[in-house]
Amino acid sequence: MRHLIFTVLLFLLSVSAKAGVWQDKCVDCHGLIAPSKKQLLDKFKTPGELAVKAKELADKKIMPQFDFELAAKELFNTVPEKNSSAVFLKKTAKSDLKRSDFSLLPSSSSISVDNPQISTKIALGKMLYFETRLSKNNTISCNTCHNMASGGDDNHQVAIGYGWRKDIRNTPTIFNVGYLNTFGWTGKAKTLEEMVKINIQDSVKMNGSEDQIVSQLKSIPEYVVIFRKSFPEDGDPINLENIAEAISSYLKTLNTFGSKFDKFLSGNMEVLSDEAKMGMNLFTEKGCIRCHYGAMFTDGKFHKFSLDNDPGRFEVTRNKRDKGFFRTAPLRNIALTAPYFHNGSVSRLDLAVKVMANRMLNEKLTDVEAWRIKVFLETLTAFPSVDARVVPVLPQKDD
Ligand code: HEC
Ligand code: HEC
Ligand code: HEC
Repeated sequence: MRHLIFTVLLFLLSVSAKAGVWQDKCVDCHGLIAPSKKQLLDKFKTPGELAVKAKELADKKIMPQFDFELAAKELFNTVPEKNSSAVFLKKTAKSDLKRSDFSLLPSSSSISVDNPQISTKIALGKMLYFETRLSKNNTISCNTCHNMASGGDDNHQVAIGYGWRKDIRNTPTIFNVGYLNTFGWTGKAKTLEEMVKINIQDSVKMNGSEDQIVSQLKSIPEYVVIFRKSFPEDGDPINLENIAEAISSYLKTLNTFGSKFDKFLSGNMEVLSDEAKMGMNLFTEKGCIRCHYGAMFTDGKFHKFSLDNDPGRFEVTRNKRDKGFFRTAPLRNIALTAPYFHNGSVSRLDLAVKVMANRMLNEKLTDVEAWRIKVFLETLTAFPSVDARVVPVLPQKDD
């Protein structure tokens, strides 16, 4: 028996040796989140020089330890690259890993600030965002739950809305929602406009009714003027459709550029601490990136995450197979939006990281690993411009 295990081990060793260290190990990160083969060859003159630098970083735990001498020789092509089925299998499993796995928040091009018509609409949207008169009892605005002064959320376990009613779910951040392609924990809306309309009318959120809102806004002359300017083609512009459109235009300005992580991706390697880099490597290595990728760190898809008896995606599709499925949560500004998960049941980010590893990847992270991933996630924090966040003066009735 022992002999058999030994033979298998030997076989595995020989396979991985054949695979080549560079292909087998280094490409997990290099060319993705670390300098590419070409960049390394441009920078280092000899394999020895490269290996020394690599070892230095590995000693600081920025990279795992490998046989860097061998990898360096492969890189400089003193050892010919061999192919094997092991490499092939590994490569295909990873074929969906691309440079774009991590990506900068794209500068929003859908809104042009020098278009006066549109900027009026954004200004109107901002007023409406802070407008409690969209709610049934004139006390709740979008900002009550998606608070501009914090992380674009309320930091409550679950949202508290109309008549102090508790929602079943935690409030997600409103920042960067313009980049999403499905909305809410369960993807209950396909467009931003639709999501806004749902929340205005939802009985545990604002409980607004179109008739009441429209008649109130129509009684305020300043609103009548701004709606006309924002929707000049419309004979009767004050309606729920246009309210949602204006608010959505405003929401698309709440983007958080310039996080440390984005600076890193733009080429400033120094901006991340060693600990954050280790966390970033763990995030890729452990497989978080399989679901949390792209500029918003989400695949926009739904995955099983049973935590409670929330029906999840089932509430939208009515398909039994979708019970307990939720959208991969976007992770930008995650450090600001505790507590975590759709029911807000976990208060600390490092604990949420552990829960994820456990449930989604069947991995038990050490405290140190979870902490490092947390430190990495903290580099995703940034705020929308102050202009976008400052509370506007709201029109009043002339009386
Ligand atoms: C888990 C991810 C990961 C793996 C696997 C990995 N590296 Fe790295 N490596 C990095 C990161 C991130 C950096 C950039 C660190 C920095 O500049 O602070 C880096 C930097 C380097 C550098 C220094 C580059 C420079 O511009 O100074 C060398 C050399 C290097 N790696 C070689 C290797 C080799 C060879 C392997 C495979 C045996 C390897 N690395 C495997 C993540 C990784
Ligand atoms: C009572 C608190 C509350 C109020 C008021 C509220 N929301 Fe929300 N919002 C939530 C909750 C909770 C969710 C998650 C709903 C779900 O998935 O079931 C959410 C989800 C969203 C989303 C989707 C975010 C994402 O990550 O997909 C957007 C966009 C949004 N709200 C915009 C608004 C706007 C605009 C208003 C004002 C018209 C508003 N909300 C009012 C609590 C609130
Ligand atoms: C199989 C896909 C998948 C993988 C792999 C995965 N996640 Fe998630 N992640 C999700 C889903 C789905 C949610 C939403 C959970 C919910 O409904 O509460 C989520 C939520 C989160 C949240 C909470 C977000 C919030 O706003 O409350 C964090 C933090 C997080 N993931 C981090 C990670 C980390 C770190 C890893 C790796 C250890 C990881 N995830 C691996 C799919 C995944």
